[in-house]
Amino acid sequence: MMNKLIAPSILSADFGRLIEEVNAIKKAGADWIHIDVMDGHFVPNISLGIPIIEALKNITSPPMDIHLMIDNPDERVEDFIKAGDPLVRVITVQYETCKLLHSTISRIKSKGVMAGLALNPLTPLSVLEEIFPYIDLVLVMTVEPGFAGQPFIKSMIPKVRELRNIISKLDNKPIIEVDGGIKLNNIREVAKAGADVFVSGSGIFKTKSYFKTIQAMRKELKRRK
Ligand code: DX5
Ligand code: ZN
Repeated sequence: MMNKLIAPSILSADFGRLIEEVNAIKKAGADWIHIDVMDGHFVPNISLGIPIIEALKNITSPPMDIHLMIDNPDERVEDFIKAGDPLVRVITVQYETCKLLHSTISRIKSKGVMAGLALNPLTPLSVLEEIFPYIDLVLVMTVEPGFAGQPFIKSMIPKVRELRNIISKLDNKPIIEVDGGIKLNNIREVAKAGADVFVSGSGIFKTKSYFKTIQAMRKELKRRK
């Protein structure tokens, strides 16, 4: 089984001090940084885009985990990879936004980047059946996409468990990421359901010491009982 990874979402960082925030999160031991791109169409919120990703690349951020919550990402994925090159580890697109999913995934993978597919809370796992052989990561949204700081949707735990169960029987085993409302007090339960990568925005950036929070999260992930 792979190591569990913690991916702080910079959506909850102080954007006026973004460089310091990213440096701090790197020092605190973040495995990836999760970057939420929102377009005001697929989700109501508008967050950040290519210029910020380019700026982050120049301050040696941790590997980037880019989550595209934008309509029609199909022809844009290369632009995001180029903006963060060579730090882009994953590009995740939302299932609900892709018209040409096979070609989108191929475009991502042809650049040597992991291809992720995100499912909204009520998008069923059954849509993945044909897609499993092509993807490297499934992102289970544990809140409705659009905003940081929303409460974790508890019924997503059995969804993660079911996904883990399905993946255990596959030849190609994508990793499982969860995003939305993940905090110190629930990370262990979600890990037990089978998640590998934990995105956390307010659960880290709204705490006093990022280092202590990430350390405490790792302890929760390792705890036996
Ligand atoms: C929601 C985003 C999340 C968000 C998580 O649309 O995809 O990555 O920043 O924030 P928290 O952890 O505060 O729910
Ligand atoms: Zn996200």
